[in-house]
Amino acid sequence: MIFSRITGTGGYLPEKILTNQDLERMVETTDEWIRERTGIEKRHIAAEHQSTVDLAEQAARRALESAGIEGKDLDLIIVATTTPDRIFPSTACLLQDRIGANGCAAFDVQAVCTGFVYALGVADKFIRAGGTKRALVVGAETLSRIVDWTDRTTCVLFGDGAGAVVLEASEEAGILSTHLHADGRYDSLLTVPGGVSQNAALCREGRAFIQMKGNEVFKVAVNTLGRIVDETLDAAGLEKSDIDWLVPHQANTRIIAATAKKLDLPMERVVLTVGQHGNTSAASVPLALDVAVRDGRIRRGDMLLLEAFGGGFTWGSALVRF
Ligand code: UT7
Repeated sequence: MIFSRITGTGGYLPEKILTNQDLERMVETTDEWIRERTGIEKRHIAAEHQSTVDLAEQAARRALESAGIEGKDLDLIIVATTTPDRIFPSTACLLQDRIGANGCAAFDVQAVCTGFVYALGVADKFIRAGGTKRALVVGAETLSRIVDWTDRTTCVLFGDGAGAVVLEASEEAGILSTHLHADGRYDSLLTVPGGVSQNAALCREGRAFIQMKGNEVFKVAVNTLGRIVDETLDAAGLEKSDIDWLVPHQANTRIIAATAKKLDLPMERVVLTVGQHGNTSAASVPLALDVAVRDGRIRRGDMLLLEAFGGGFTWGSALVRF
């Protein structure tokens, strides 16, 4: 039987930091409100000359280095992003050329904040089906480009960044299962209402921004993530106590704490980066994973539960023996 295993991780955050104090000077908000309601203290913002592929490239290079392989060794690149560089070519194609992986399959996945979990699920299926031996899976975002910096209900939440993993075919099981879901009926609760084919004027006028009914999203997120914890454990026949680390999407500390409670997991066993990174959408899970691998908390053999929830709505999880 062929499985896929994570053999390398990488992350990248742009240099510029935007603190809650900075935001106090931009909109009517307070550091106290942001920290109490979200857990966020600061977020990173891409420089004007940086685009999503620039962030993705840095994270990808670090993941390749930690796996001990080069771009030319890859059979597949999937980039999860809501903020692609261009309409086309895909950000995955732009990244492929940067890292010298020319010739392999490369495409983007759009599942907003669940994008990385979706991309991991797709890459895992490519590898299990045979043929694909080495895949690079990236979550990369320049969300700051679709944030309305005058809207205090959204602008305090988001940040830019990229995270990546290398997946390799292995006889040892690494990705044990992935669970992917969506329900399109909630599109009005979390959306950027302009695009190429609908409300294109919003894009042309530079007004295609994130709109969110935060409180309603919050409630659905907590319930849905609770359900996916059960689904994931049941599918693998595992107990809550078998999970060593929760690596959640980083939108809000209160949502993450609710999921940890559902797992009976103390917060010391949860990788929490939202305070330092904000919500980086598709980049948040691989960035959190990379942080905890590099600081030595997550070790080879640990059982990880990755989960995410976002626009669509989309949600998903991955059970991973690291
Ligand atoms: O990653 C994709 C999925 N996204 C999420 O999971 C986000 C889910 N939602 C959330 O994390 C939370 O709902 C928020 C952090 C967005 C908002 O927290 P909340 O506790 O749900 O607050 P709220 O929206 O109910 O607003 C409470 C009050 C309102 O004032 P009134 O109506 O009570 O007078 C808001 O106008 O807080 C006000 N408010 C703010 N005050 C200071 C909203 N934003 C701000 C702000 N600073 N930045």
